Amino acid sequence: MRGRFISLEGGEGVGKSTQLRRLAEALRADGREVVETREPGGSPGAEAIRALLLEGETDRWTPEAEALLFAAARADHVARLIRPALERGAWVLCDRFLDSSLAYQGGAGGLDETAIRQLHQIGSDGLMPDRTLLLELPGSDAAKREFARDNGRLDRFGRKTGEYHDRVAGTFRKLAEADPQRFRAVNAEGAMEEVTDRLLAALADIR
Ligand code: TYD
Repeated sequence: MRGRFISLEGGEGVGKSTQLRRLAEALRADGREVVETREPGGSPGAEAIRALLLEGETDRWTPEAEALLFAAARADHVARLIRPALERGAWVLCDRFLDSSLAYQGGAGGLDETAIRQLHQIGSDGLMPDRTLLLELPGSDAAKREFARDNGRLDRFGRKTGEYHDRVAGTFRKLAEADPQRFRAVNAEGAMEEVTDRLLAALADIR
């Protein structure tokens, strides 16, 4: 018996964490075990790496070092939390996964996509989500929401340029188009309830 592995992806401030909580509630109502987690982090070791990644100056890490730290955090998270949960039949909902590395360190940061996939192969035996929900918002709205939420106190990635975040969004879109089997792009605009309904509809075929 194997559970289902669902990742949520998107730029900053698209409402991923709220939607992840709402999705988990809806899926629990079906009587399943649902594990909610996030990256970078999700296990004690990966949470320690998270602090290294999100704090400090924007240029604290080279793109290469940054990609290795994300892959290391992911390897620990997969081994300690995600795989055991899937093996006991749980559904795992993860706020960001490999596609974030492909979009941020790859498309926006300039690292080679193949290299990032190789790191994932080495670290996590290439584990991929059964479904990836890509939440999309027009860039300017996302920036506004993020600013309102954090009152201007953004982490290392939130402080990068608008151009960087446009490349992130463009890469997510390209990844989704290249793998329509795994990805569903979902419009994150509108009422919270409506967005949750769209996300649930995008899981209907694997529920
Ligand atoms: P977080 O505060 O969790 O952001 P959000 O609420 O936007 O999900 O911080 C995660 C940041 O790390 C976010 O800016 C995206 C970035 N990130 C990467 O650059 N690569 C990755 O592989 C992951 C998982 C996240």
